[in-house]
Amino acid sequence: MVNIVGIGGSLRTNSHSMQALQLAADRVEAAGATAKILDLRDMALPFCDGGDGYPDNPDVAILQSTVKQADGLILSTPEYHGNVSGVIKNALDLMSFDELSGKVVGVISVLGGQPNSNALNELRLIMRWVHAWVIPEQIAIGRAWQAFGSDGTLKDEQLAKRFDQFAQSLVANTQKLTGR
Ligand SMILES: Cc1cc2nc3c(=O)[nH]c(=O)nc-3n(C[C@H](O)[C@H](O)[C@H](O)COP(=O)(O)O)c2cc1C
Repeated sequence: MVNIVGIGGSLRTNSHSMQALQLAADRVEAAGATAKILDLRDMALPFCDGGDGYPDNPDVAILQSTVKQADGLILSTPEYHGNVSGVIKNALDLMSFDELSGKVVGVISVLGGQPNSNALNELRLIMRWVHAWVIPEQIAIGRAWQAFGSDGTLKDEQLAKRFDQFAQSLVANTQKLTGR
């Protein structure tokens, strides 16, 4: 069974990108993989300083080892000023080829305005740089403040169906690329 790890790029309580990540993780499990979310709100990650290591920070070690052991990743970022959030960029900057190369990745963005591909394309660029494989399916959730019901599900059924297609592709392509 392939092992998928999810990372979200918001530290906000009631974050919609974390809600989207949870939905994606649930659909990944339904598609036959294991899914674990690394909740950065529960971690005290330092800013990447460009150095070789962070021996005094156990959360960096947890981030690196959890991602290294994963077969695939889900990255869910809020769009901040037309781009990925600093939180997710920093988490990715705390890792490198050792953790990220060869991973199969699905990308999600969550926006206050209209859905677009800005942050999604930036995640694709970052992942290409570390030799990871991003699946063609992607999800952008616009007007996030009105997209979710009080139970955490999406109000738009078509958008909810995209999560199934996204998860099925992520699991199938991770199985193909890892041979597991
Ligand atoms: C610093 C900042 C920049 C933002 N920039 C954009 C933006 O460029 N486009 C947009 O549609 N929404 C923008 N938003 C709105 C967020 O994308 C939106 O509130 C999103 O739901 C936040 O994610 P979260 O719910 O996971 O915290 C911005 C919000 C913040 C705090």
